[in-house]
Parts: sequence; C-alpha cells; structure tokens
Amino acid sequence: MRKKIVAGNWKMNKSMDEAMILASEVVHMVKDEVNSDVQVIIAPPALYLTTLQKHTEPVANMGIAAQNCSNKASGAYTGEISASMLKSIGVTHVIIGHSERRQYFNESNEQLAEKVNIVLENGMTPIFCCGESLEQRQGEGFFEFVASQLTEGIFHLSSEDFGKVVIAYEPIWAIGTGLTASSAQAQEMHAYLRGHLASKYGQAIADETSILYGGSCNEKNAEEIFSQPDVDGGLIGGASLKSREFTNIAKSF
Ligand code: 13P
Repeated sequence: MRKKIVAGNWKMNKSMDEAMILASEVVHMVKDEVNSDVQVIIAPPALYLTTLQKHTEPVANMGIAAQNCSNKASGAYTGEISASMLKSIGVTHVIIGHSERRQYFNESNEQLAEKVNIVLENGMTPIFCCGESLEQRQGEGFFEFVASQLTEGIFHLSSEDFGKVVIAYEPIWAIGTGLTASSAQAQEMHAYLRGHLASKYGQAIADETSILYGGSCNEKNAEEIFSQPDVDGGLIGGASLKSREFTNIAKSF
C-alpha cells in the first residue's frame, strides 16, 4: 500500500507569530480529525523550522519539511542551508525542484540530482517536484518532458534509495492560478509517470511510490482529485495557509 500524503508548502509567507498559530492549529486538528494512515507534512519557511518541529514531532503521522536545501555538504556558501543542518533539527522531508526554484533560481536537473542525494544521505525524504508549463501543455511532448525531469533528477538512484523518494507532479499552469488540472488530467499524467518509474525500477517499486498532485488543490476539489487511482495525495500551496482548509484537504481521502 502506498502512503497517502498531504503536504503544505507555505512558500514565503507568514510572520513567526502567524506561523506558530497556524502550525499549532494544524497539529491539533490533525490529531483530532485526520486518519492516522494519512501523513500530514508542513513546509514552513526555513527560519521557523526549529520552532515548528517541536509542534509536529509528537504527532506520529506528521512530518516537517524544508522547502529547499543546498546541494553542498558544508562550507563557504553564504546564505545556504545544508541537509545535515536540517537533519540536526529534526526535519523529516525536503522539497526538491519546486518549479519556482527551477524558474526563479535557475536550478538545473543536475543540481537537483545532487540535492536528492544529499537529502537521502542525511536520512530525510526528498519530495521531488516535476511539471510542465502552459506552453508545453498546449504543445506536444509534455508527457515526455515531465518524465525526463524524473529521469534526470532521480533515476540515478539505486532501487533502495528510490524507494525512499516521494514525487509531486505540479503542472506550472495550475500553481496559484486557480486553474486546477482536472482529475482526469492528473490521473493521466500520474499513470504515465508510474509507467515511467516501472520501466526503470519495475512495477513493484513503481506501485509503492507515492505521487502527489499539486496546483490549486483546495478543500472543494481535493476529494475528486485524491479519488483517482494513481493520485496519492497533494502538495498544497495557498490552501495550506489556512488550518481549517488544509485539514479538510487531509481528510479528503
Ligand atoms: P497552489 O496550491 O497555491 O496552487 O500551489 C501549489 C504549489 O506550488 C505547492 O508546492
């Protein structure tokens, strides 16, 4: 059985006080309301991870993610945060290769592959993001493009390490636009990607890999999207900034 996962990517939002309130509300609601077989992850800005980790840690089905990490182990890289630092404060997951990092910070698949390695070496779970732009969606070859992001970012891994990775399919045209992929479009891509995983690692490993959908997912559309056979949860942006809505999404399976 694949893990069901709902992760909230807060991006660059919230003050410290607001972050503490949001996290403690989410933690209480998850404890009281969310099925224990659903893993709920929050990904606050890095500055708040140390504090908020103490909120999530006591809850068995909760995790805390960084939104990024350095591809370097340590040293003279001003402003960067290493995977080992994240590990040392109890971070469980790291989002790697979000389209905003690829787009605004020019992160290449090569760098992302290094980040995936360093996250795994430090015993955390990479949430590896992929997804096509609107232009690509309107043209041809977007399935192959998204598959190539996986090939270049994670297909160097051994089967054992690959089994520790979570994938998030986030069509760029659906991120923050209110334009969600239809559940059929999400299912179509997820099934295609699972086939791609199977071609490299075999069906059994592909069937164990959680593939999350991200892009304007909210409490109204989550149930329909999560009901698709190859959709194993969501990576939630805007709707993760409201505790009630985020928890409702986590209850949508
Ligand atoms: P929205 O849910 O705001 O569209 O963002 C999705 C996302 O980028 C999550 O990583």
